[in-house]
Amino acid sequence: MADSRVAIVTGAARGIGAATAKRLAEDGFAVAVIDLDEKQCADTVSAIESGGGKALAVGCDVSDAAQVQAAVDRIAAELGGPTVLVNNAGVIRDNMLFKMSEDDWDMVMNVHLRGAFLMSRAVQKHMVEAKWGRIVNLSSTSALGNRGQANYSTAKAGLQGLTKTLAIELGKFGVTANAIAPGFIATDMTKATAERVGMDFEDFTKAAASQIPVARVGQPEDIANTVSFFADDRSGFVSGQVIYVAGGPKA
Ligand SMILES: NC(=O)c1ccc[n+]([C@@H]2O[C@H](COP(=O)([O-])OP(=O)(O)OC[C@H]3O[C@@H](n4cnc5c(N)ncnc54)[C@H](O)[C@@H]3O)[C@@H](O)[C@H]2O)c1
Repeated sequence: MADSRVAIVTGAARGIGAATAKRLAEDGFAVAVIDLDEKQCADTVSAIESGGGKALAVGCDVSDAAQVQAAVDRIAAELGGPTVLVNNAGVIRDNMLFKMSEDDWDMVMNVHLRGAFLMSRAVQKHMVEAKWGRIVNLSSTSALGNRGQANYSTAKAGLQGLTKTLAIELGKFGVTANAIAPGFIATDMTKATAERVGMDFEDFTKAAASQIPVARVGQPEDIANTVSFFADDRSGFVSGQVIYVAGGPKA
């Protein structure tokens, strides 16, 4: 285990990222809470601090190489070298293929794929130095294909390829890389989908739950718990895997 227990969670102002940042703080990590705007991170940081943990708010667009390098340098200086990275920041720009703009395609690729690549490249140096690290990428059941999500499903499938390659390249340095593919999780992202299809969020959630074997939708804490497992020192022999956290075997 690395001496410095510092984790970075991107897109951690709300939703799955916020729950994950809080959980890693409970697990004993000092947590860098990254989101687009530093001010957005305040709630997550104060929740961690009021629970006795240590957190740092960092404003950074993960798709911008200069901002990513500056953020990782600042985190290393203020908290210590990061050895856990959760690539969670994400956006949706759903549309049927014939209506999808190039901007909607590029935006989704840039945040998910370029973002995870840039963050992983900047952080691996600290992991390799520590000879210990954990990278967790947020994929999705949409990686298996989802109507209206040509951009998002491509990005989420791409993240699975990135995960497996990072596992191969970084394994000898004590670094594991794994992916979590959530099903329906109740967050602002699924609220936006309900709005797009013109449904009340409660009805949308009930309809989703009726298709899920465990008969409920997921909560951000369900994903945070899986991240916690991958980040654990005792999970060092689990690498290059994709775990579907979807309340059942299928999307
Ligand atoms: N909610 C679900 O059902 C679900 C299912 C599968 C996968 N996921 C994935 O889980 C992750 C988190 O989803 P969520 O539901 O919590 O979403 P969310 O929309 O509630 O939160 C995403 C966060 O990412 C931040 N973000 C967006 N672009 C960014 C950028 N360029 N740089 C830094 N931060 C940025 C946003 O500001 C926001 O705080 C995403 O990668 C998403 O694709 C979610």
